Amino acid sequence: MAAPLLAIETSCDETAAAVIGSEGRPLSSVVASQAGLHAQWGGVVPEAASRSHLESLPTLARVALGQAGVEAQALGCVAATSGPGLAPALLVGLSFAKGLAVARGLPFVAVNHIEGHLFSPFIGRAHIPPHVSLIVSGGHTLLVAVKSGEDIRLLGRTRDDAAGEAFDKAAKLLGLPYPGGAVLDELAEEGDAAAFDFPRALRHSGDWDFSFSGLKTSLRYLLEKQPIRSEQQLRDVCASFREAVVEVLVGKLVAAVKATGARHAALSGGVACNRRLRGLFFEAGREHGFEAHAVEPRYATDNAAMIGFVASWRFRQARFSDWDADIRPALDWQVAHSVPRLDEPPCKGS
Ligand code: KG4
Ligand code: ZN
Repeated sequence: MAAPLLAIETSCDETAAAVIGSEGRPLSSVVASQAGLHAQWGGVVPEAASRSHLESLPTLARVALGQAGVEAQALGCVAATSGPGLAPALLVGLSFAKGLAVARGLPFVAVNHIEGHLFSPFIGRAHIPPHVSLIVSGGHTLLVAVKSGEDIRLLGRTRDDAAGEAFDKAAKLLGLPYPGGAVLDELAEEGDAAAFDFPRALRHSGDWDFSFSGLKTSLRYLLEKQPIRSEQQLRDVCASFREAVVEVLVGKLVAAVKATGARHAALSGGVACNRRLRGLFFEAGREHGFEAHAVEPRYATDNAAMIGFVASWRFRQARFSDWDADIRPALDWQVAHSVPRLDEPPCKGS
């Protein structure tokens, strides 16, 4: 049985640490959100994020080890996110992880943050079926076909704003507190999704790309023309906006599942916390005959368990990173090609 590994995630505004045991099972996963800190500026300030990571990371790593009941001497590997993300924020986590690995004579694994999200719906599972995956976060909206460990293809992505960014910008226009995606979702629960007609951009474009910037603009026009007069109207706008985003996301996912013949689909990223998105995703699975794997909400927003899960494969295969592995703020999703070997453990299902 492999020794446990410690994983660190500091790509944006959550400081996170997790201990991963054998078979990639999380023994602990702790996250310190900086949302309260950045709320005063209405968005993430990279230098403030970096300073805050630096202050909380040593304690958080100790808490993760303590909750897992693992002594630092028992660790077999240290992992951290190398990108994409904010450079000063990534630097803190990567340097901390490398320093710890050097000091303890342990191997080190650098992980692509997007890859962490990609496989997060399967955290702790020994087998991952071939599937179509929708990754929806504050920074990314990607539709990916995972056929095998060697065959992971990008089907489509957003041409402008990410889905989470669209929710956050809409929330800002509506005067909701930062970060707005979750607040908008909460308000939408009591709203009428048919009250306002928002565009479904690229819904029938024939490809699997997304576009959300027009949606945000149409909300701005609506608010200029018709300022919100009541709490119920606010809820109706939130519900209608949410429906427009979610309908396009699930519509394209279903089209991709049908086109690829996949029998499984996965949903991940912070926006995977969205109640309507989760509901429609599971509904689509029942209606169209695919198994729907939605990430658990605690592993949807940024966390270190998803980083450690990916690192645990590479640890078991002794595919370690070089000591000069640097931060890669603009890293794209493609690195996923070279990393997970889903056939080890083997792909099951079809
Ligand atoms: O994955 P994540 O923590 O960070 C990135 O890698 O970007 O995702 C954060 C995003 C934010 O845009 C946030 O507003 C959004 O996820 N989010 C939600 C909900 N909860 C978080 N968006 C819609 N509905 C939610 N319930
Ligand atoms: Zn993320």
